[in-house]
Amino acid sequence: MIEPHGGNLVDLKTIAATEDLRENSSLVLTERGLADFEMLATGALSPLTGFMAKDDYLSTINNMRLSNGLVWSIPITLPITSDQYADLKTADEINLKDSTGKALGKIFVSDIYTYDKHLEAEKVYQTTDDKHPGVAALQMQGEYLIAGEVEVYSLPEYDIFQEYRLAPVELRKVFQEKGWQRIVGFQTRNPIHRAHEYITKCALEIVDGLLIHPLVGETKSDDIPASVRMECYRAILDNYFPHRHTVLAVYPAAMRYAGPREAIFHAITRKNYGCTHFIVGRDHAGIGNYYGTYDAQKIFENFTRDELGIEPLFFEHAFYCKRTDLMATTKTSRAMDHEKIFLSGSKVREILKSGGRLPEEFTRPEVEEILRRHYSNEKK
Ligand code: ADX
Repeated sequence: MIEPHGGNLVDLKTIAATEDLRENSSLVLTERGLADFEMLATGALSPLTGFMAKDDYLSTINNMRLSNGLVWSIPITLPITSDQYADLKTADEINLKDSTGKALGKIFVSDIYTYDKHLEAEKVYQTTDDKHPGVAALQMQGEYLIAGEVEVYSLPEYDIFQEYRLAPVELRKVFQEKGWQRIVGFQTRNPIHRAHEYITKCALEIVDGLLIHPLVGETKSDDIPASVRMECYRAILDNYFPHRHTVLAVYPAAMRYAGPREAIFHAITRKNYGCTHFIVGRDHAGIGNYYGTYDAQKIFENFTRDELGIEPLFFEHAFYCKRTDLMATTKTSRAMDHEKIFLSGSKVREILKSGGRLPEEFTRPEVEEILRRHYSNEKK
């Protein structure tokens, strides 16, 4: 099995902590905070064991490395507002609660520090435009960051996809039982369309197994909800993917839309889940026109294969080629633009919202049907 990032797989759940019933100070986690908590708790963020201290935070945003030099591209922070700071500034330990008031764990506060949102936006998102959803979230969050190790009592509870919520240690076991040595991870925040199907299957040709690992943490409001996407994933797996070589599990992270930086983050965290390879296609984790089509591939040039530990598999823009009646990419096709069938995410939404049909060359009919139902329910 591939080594986790930094060498050791963190599993904060194995620390047999029971809920601390003392009246500690407490903080209700946001949706992003809950996602980060779950990622920390299960070791998906190995080697991190808590929310970042200032040296790791600054090193991450400035150098794409933790202060010890290990590659790390996205800050993992616990923001609080000035009002919350007034209550929490002298606390040594703070209970971390979900929205029902249940304490899921606590943080041993090592520091509470201020930070420069403008700098973080510039470095991580390459823009300070607050129309960018990652920048907007950063602008909205509090002015202080709490740093410290996290102790876990229990994981956040969700009533959906429980059976697909496999922690790194659990997924590694699944891969081991299947006898897979080489596993490719596929990140997605969309239903699986034909282009996704094509690149995942091309990747699968050279490895033993494919992990379809959709992100189910917070996404922007016009992305298709994870519950609808899960229906699509199940439908497509049932009908079009080889069961012996495919596993579906969910990735609890929140989406940042940080394009290139998030591609690195997605890759190193998938290594923690046991993947040896990771798919990076066109405009990975991108949004609008903030990043170049292949920027999320180029960023990998900044790191050696050894320091990443996971091998990225790059794919060019895939589409249905009418000249050959096959899926292809700009690398493998001679199609002229009018011979390519490809739809952008916003075009897909526009078609579905207006009650139109998606071409079968773009999406499988089973997926189209689920999406059409979703949009017609939304209209009602
Ligand atoms: S992402 O935010 O998770 O990257 P999405 O779910 O659309 O968005 O993409 C999942 C993966 O498929 C990413 O690696 C992305 O680069 C890749 N991808 C999406 N569409 C295409 C396409 N038409 N051609 C090649 N790669 C693609």
